[in-house]
Amino acid sequence: MAGCVDDVGGTQEVIRETDGSENMFDVEAYCSQYCSLDPSTADPFEVPSLKSRMKIIHDYYQLIGLKDARVLEYGSGPSVYSLIGAVPYCREIVISEYDVRSRDFLSKWKNGQANHHITTLFQYAVMSIEKLGEGDEVSQRENALRQLISGIYPGDLNTDTPIEMDSPGLFDIISTHFTCHTVCMSVDEFRAAVGRLVKFLKPGGFLILSEILECELGKWDGLKVGYKGFQLTRESLIECIEQLGFINIKDDVVAEEPIDGKAPPEFGKTLTLLAQAP
Ligand SMILES: C[S@@+](CC[C@H](N)C(=O)[O-])C[C@H]1O[C@@H](n2cnc3c(N)ncnc32)[C@H](O)[C@@H]1O
Repeated sequence: MAGCVDDVGGTQEVIRETDGSENMFDVEAYCSQYCSLDPSTADPFEVPSLKSRMKIIHDYYQLIGLKDARVLEYGSGPSVYSLIGAVPYCREIVISEYDVRSRDFLSKWKNGQANHHITTLFQYAVMSIEKLGEGDEVSQRENALRQLISGIYPGDLNTDTPIEMDSPGLFDIISTHFTCHTVCMSVDEFRAAVGRLVKFLKPGGFLILSEILECELGKWDGLKVGYKGFQLTRESLIECIEQLGFINIKDDVVAEEPIDGKAPPEFGKTLTLLAQAP
């Protein structure tokens, strides 16, 4: 079925099927290159946009202004960069993550194991974004986040149980970054996937979501590689969120700039938005 158009409007090209192992999330590469602020290993293109996104997410939590929110972080991967700014505004954080290696990685950190990658993110958030001190504030924030996380659960957004926990209840805030697009093959599927997730949001609750724009991502189901995905534009993404009934939508686009004359990678433009459920 090479190159055929499927019934949901995406182009699908199954190049080969695998047992899944080679297509799973590369935790080490993610931490050292793509979600890293360590200058010795970080991908130089990722650094400015990661810093910008952390600041945007910090600002959104401040804007929401809740004092004791219950937060769901969906598809965290092996990182917590999107939760550091949430700490002063939360009473509980639930993480749901599809990939067992990412869950194990985060569990070890939550149980007290020091992690250089994660610590650099706390240092940046506390010292550079919030302009607090260098010492105890950083470790206190890291320990506060460990305490707030009540559990790290599996979850598959392509199923009827996106969060595999008993009685997940409803959340004041759902935070999800670069996850919904990866499970879809078309804009219609994307809208449906976000819809399945925001069923866990309280009325009037908030969605904080990031996606890569204008980049044909491949669907990631851990079993097949070589799918061609679809592109999200700012307009199509915001339209989906509006069609799901959200109001008060605010968004920030971050585009990578060329570094040393080298063009940024295809996935160099991201959008982060804040929207309120009806
Ligand atoms: C690109 S990573 C994003 C990680 C992190 N949120 C970030 O901002 O860097 C995509 C995430 O989607 C998750 N994922 C993949 N397939 C999924 C599925 N079927 N249901 C839910 N999450 C899935 C992966 O495990 C991974 O954590």
